[in-house]
Amino acid sequence: MGRERVSSRAMIIAIDGPAGAGKSTVARALARALDLSFLDTGAMYRAVTLAVLRAGAAVEDGEACGVIARATRVDIAPDGEVLLDGVPSGEAVRSPRVDEAVSPVSAHPEVRREVVPVQRAVAARGRGVVAEGRDTTTTVFPDADHKFYLAATPAERARRRAAQIGQPERAVEIEGELARRDRLDSTRATSPLTLAPDAEVVETDGLSVDEVVAALLARLAEGGGAD
Ligand code: DC
Repeated sequence: MGRERVSSRAMIIAIDGPAGAGKSTVARALARALDLSFLDTGAMYRAVTLAVLRAGAAVEDGEACGVIARATRVDIAPDGEVLLDGVPSGEAVRSPRVDEAVSPVSAHPEVRREVVPVQRAVAARGRGVVAEGRDTTTTVFPDADHKFYLAATPAERARRRAAQIGQPERAVEIEGELARRDRLDSTRATSPLTLAPDAEVVETDGLSVDEVVAALLARLAEGGGAD
């Protein structure tokens, strides 16, 4: 007893933005700096997508994907790793097959209906979370304590992705792939990528991860990114 935390609800910081804007890396580092948990919402959709592919279901079949999402236990371990039926999913959720299938699978309302409540339950545990993902500021946590939208030009995002996988020569090809995913993710009917009116936009071109994290910490200290 004695400490405020007993009665206050968990703190939620939501970070949104397009693919390759550095959301994961920044959110993970910010969570560490603030001693909060890191919630990678995209990894949860990736885990469901892996289950769909393993089951041999068609990624366009919303009903089948929803059935698989309901039958699959997706959770986040205390270290932030995504668990698929209790087993750490590891690098399997980052495979090119999953990269390709995750946009259509995550677009199904039948899938989101299963995944979003788990995300909220994870966020309610402990001291709170830094949640990262393209509908976290709008749909999953509309009442988040702080909301940030990380922006970066497509060329910068592609350059970072290519460097991250150790293949800088693939930047142009990756830029095309990112543009395809941006289009799918922002034009779909359910939870499209949109900028929440109360999210603070942070332009990240030319900034290192540490510089972006420092910018977010400074804005939090000023009371920025608040809803
Ligand atoms: O951030 P990521 O690349 O791991 O996300 C994978 C896919 O999951 C992305 O193409 C869109 C989807 N996604 C989503 O629909 N909602 C979220 N909150 C996070 C990701």
